[in-house]
Amino acid sequence: MSTATSTRAIFDIKDLNLWYGDHHALKNINFPINKKEVTAIIGPSGCGKSTFIKTLNLMINYVPNVKMTGEINYNGQNILNEKLDLVELRKNVGMVFQKGNPFPQSIYDNVAYGPRVHGTKRKPHLDEIVTKSLMDVALWDEVKDRLQAPALGLSGGQQQRLCIARALATKPDVLLMDEPTSALDPISTLKIEELILELKEKYTIVIVTHNMQQASRVSDKTAFFLMGELIELDDTSTIFSNPSDERTEGYITGRFG
Ligand SMILES: Nc1ncnc2c1ncn2[C@@H]1O[C@H](COP(=O)(O)OP(=O)(O)O)[C@@H](O)[C@H]1O
Ligand SMILES: [Mg+2]
Repeated sequence: MSTATSTRAIFDIKDLNLWYGDHHALKNINFPINKKEVTAIIGPSGCGKSTFIKTLNLMINYVPNVKMTGEINYNGQNILNEKLDLVELRKNVGMVFQKGNPFPQSIYDNVAYGPRVHGTKRKPHLDEIVTKSLMDVALWDEVKDRLQAPALGLSGGQQQRLCIARALATKPDVLLMDEPTSALDPISTLKIEELILELKEKYTIVIVTHNMQQASRVSDKTAFFLMGELIELDDTSTIFSNPSDERTEGYITGRFG
């Protein structure tokens, strides 16, 4: 397992353990995440994928009775120890969920939400951010004539791209995606995958996916989790062609999971 920390690591997770009450959900995770790479997280249901990704911007803090030990170093700062500004952290480490969850507001207001929270008030500046964010997710041409229309009127695939635009609007450097295409049709899924490949020029992306073809299409690194443990982390091509752990091989060849 190649977990050597390089200077390209934006996150460096060391000996991370997490408990929900008595349930030990993450066990001694050591996981560097490189800048401007796509890291895919795979593994059977309940193995801790969502739990892990939610630790990276401390969304996990919303869950009661969670205890963590170890280190989550983000740009060299252990976010578990520092008294840090969580709003600032989540501006820099944005998150997109399984089901596109636009607010029941206009398309424009959804994208402008984050920048407004962070104090951007001037209309021309907001207009510029909204336009750029919608362009970045290849949604601009589809919605530019109806920015004031309700976001909930968009198709599922458009809603998911809108949620990505909403996350991009605060200029994050990391984008976390928890099964972002599992509720989408194949064409919308393909669009999101193409988008991920474009976005990685500028952003670090961590994506949880049930779909192994998706992991192999979009990611540079793949991490295989099993029952709260990180079994193997390596180049995606290695994980899918020549994994070093037989449990990884069992999972990717469909013997379990
Ligand atoms: N809020 C919670 N409270 C208690 N246990 C939880 C909670 N969320 C997840 N778990 C448990 O932690 C384990 C990992 O869950 P999760 O991270 O959601 O897995 P995955 O995303 O891989 O399906 C599972 O056993 C799950 O039941
Ligand atoms: Mg999950």
